[in-house]
Amino acid sequence: MKRLGVNIDHVATLRNARGETHPDPLFAAKLATFSGADSITIHLREDRRHINDVDAKKICSTKNFLVNLEISTDYKMIDIAIKLNPNCICLVPENRKEVTTEGGLNLKKNKNKLKNIISRFKRKKIRTSLFVNPSLKDIRISREIGTDCVEIHTGKFSNLVKSKKKFLTEFKKIAKCSKLANDLNIEAHAGHGLDFQSVKLLTKINEIKEFNIGHYLIGDSVFYSLPEVIKKFKRIINKK
Ligand code: PXP
Repeated sequence: MKRLGVNIDHVATLRNARGETHPDPLFAAKLATFSGADSITIHLREDRRHINDVDAKKICSTKNFLVNLEISTDYKMIDIAIKLNPNCICLVPENRKEVTTEGGLNLKKNKNKLKNIISRFKRKKIRTSLFVNPSLKDIRISREIGTDCVEIHTGKFSNLVKSKKKFLTEFKKIAKCSKLANDLNIEAHAGHGLDFQSVKLLTKINEIKEFNIGHYLIGDSVFYSLPEVIKKFKRIINKK
């Protein structure tokens, strides 16, 4: 069974548009879990543009679901992440002006730093993941860094699918990287920009064990409700 991680950042985006308390990301996390989400992903950004520290604390201290916390490699953020003690931490690159996480980490440049951070998380028994580009070289470096999982950035693939352009080359890159990760004993995850169509294509890659989906899933929930959209993604992911 492949797992669905539901990213609820944009519930907080909607809440923050009014600066009030509704809709509540913690309630979204509980409802998503009740509807079949296998884990809840939140990204506590340095600029706190969606999820804030209070949300992160409440969500990470609730024991009814597994939390995957996305965080930058800034040392202050790493200290916060360790205090939050989530089930899994996925390290992601961050850039102030970006609309969303535009690519994977620069593993070659930051190898030693990432190795240190990953070993700090492991000492706390937190499962670790690195957000990486679909590059075989980066999967090999991920092994040297010692991560438990990699999340392969599917943004380019998703955009090609959405715009009805040729996606086979990008699909093959993701497939090869997932296979290599699996051979190296690293669990392969995938995420970014996924919708029903792109995730369906990626389910053909057996080695991908988890999909993390946010923007499209929350957006479609405005029309069809969070439980229904989650159930539909789960059916697609597990080919039912
Ligand atoms: N995975 C990671 C590591 C991300 O940074 C994001 C975006 O925050 C996602 C998955 C979800 O991407 P989307 O919101 O486009 O589904």
